[in-house]
Amino acid sequence: MQLTKILSAGALALATAAFAITAAQAAEPLKIGLVLPMTGPFAAYGKQIEHGVKLYLEKNGDTIAGRKVQLIVKDDAPGTAGDVSKRLAQELVVKDNVDILAGFGLTPSAFAVAPVATEAKKPMIVMNAATSAVTTKSNYIVRTSMTLPQITAPVASWAAKNGIKTVFTVVADYGPGHDSEGQFKKTFTAAGGTIAGEVRVPVRNPDFAPYLQKVKDTKPDAVFLFVPAGEAGIAFMKGFQERGLAAAGIKLIATGDLTDEDVLDAIGDPSLGVINSFHYAEAHKSPENQTYVAAYAKAYPKDRPNFMSVGGYDGMHLIAEVLKKTGGDASGDKFIEAAKGMKWMSPRGPVSIDPATRDIVQTVYIRKVTKVGGKLQNVEFDQVNDFKDPGKQ
Ligand code: PHB
Repeated sequence: MQLTKILSAGALALATAAFAITAAQAAEPLKIGLVLPMTGPFAAYGKQIEHGVKLYLEKNGDTIAGRKVQLIVKDDAPGTAGDVSKRLAQELVVKDNVDILAGFGLTPSAFAVAPVATEAKKPMIVMNAATSAVTTKSNYIVRTSMTLPQITAPVASWAAKNGIKTVFTVVADYGPGHDSEGQFKKTFTAAGGTIAGEVRVPVRNPDFAPYLQKVKDTKPDAVFLFVPAGEAGIAFMKGFQERGLAAAGIKLIATGDLTDEDVLDAIGDPSLGVINSFHYAEAHKSPENQTYVAAYAKAYPKDRPNFMSVGGYDGMHLIAEVLKKTGGDASGDKFIEAAKGMKWMSPRGPVSIDPATRDIVQTVYIRKVTKVGGKLQNVEFDQVNDFKDPGKQ
């Protein structure tokens, strides 16, 4: 009798241990499909976002709610061809059986993949694409980057309050450019400013010479610029300098896409003094950002952390915190419900997910490009707290 009891207790203990092992083994990996431009003209977007995602996993471990994270990166270069992004997202869902779709460097990519997320009921985490309407294209989208109206309105207000009376707007001719042009006009004219002229330039390889001449002839107090971060901004700054617009006393104001840390050194000293508004700066002063910048420098000593890296880092943070709440369940409806209203301290400052729009609410800073310890930096000097996307109001 006694022996039987001992034996059965032992058997039970063994069975329990075996079950625990089976349960751990049974926990499916968490497959995250990243759709990003990794090559071509916007390769830096994929590089920065991937850096941010990986930094989060290095810091916090790559097992979330018992599930080991598996990243599957698909290069949707050039990043502006929606059909390419859509085909890759479909492959991720059907062949790779991913739990979550994430990444999305440019708006056309996010727009094209939204119906895939809806149909497959997969959470879709937008880590950069910033046209206001992106989150309206699927109920499964959550965004951890920004929106163009959100980062444009503050610099338009700043301009109106700081003696700039006439502005010529120059924007890239696609969703984010149209958004920034519309918001700039709205905010600036409501504050008493005048739009002296406006042009829309091609998204890729714009030749700025004719536009710059037109701006120079119009003699506005300032130019407002939005072009997607990267080569276009470098080319614009070069032309602005060479054609003597700065020398003619025309100021340059912009969204922080222009003076992003990934290209700031390539632009060089002509960027000094440019006033811009944005949600993330490498020079942002907070303990969270200090830790982030140090970890980034250690892992990627050849690069500087920029807003896209933080979009990726925060996107991964959101995934991890949501899964902790759902006990590892990444199914679309549960994921999105858990994501709504989530709040955390990002390297950029405090952020939250607006439960009504699934878009990010954050502080937008006004910055001036300044040399700090010999390095060009976006130095924050004013801010608008808890700022929601005005594009949806
Ligand atoms: C976009 O395509 O949504 C986009 C790309 C680059 C930026 C901002 C927005 O810097």
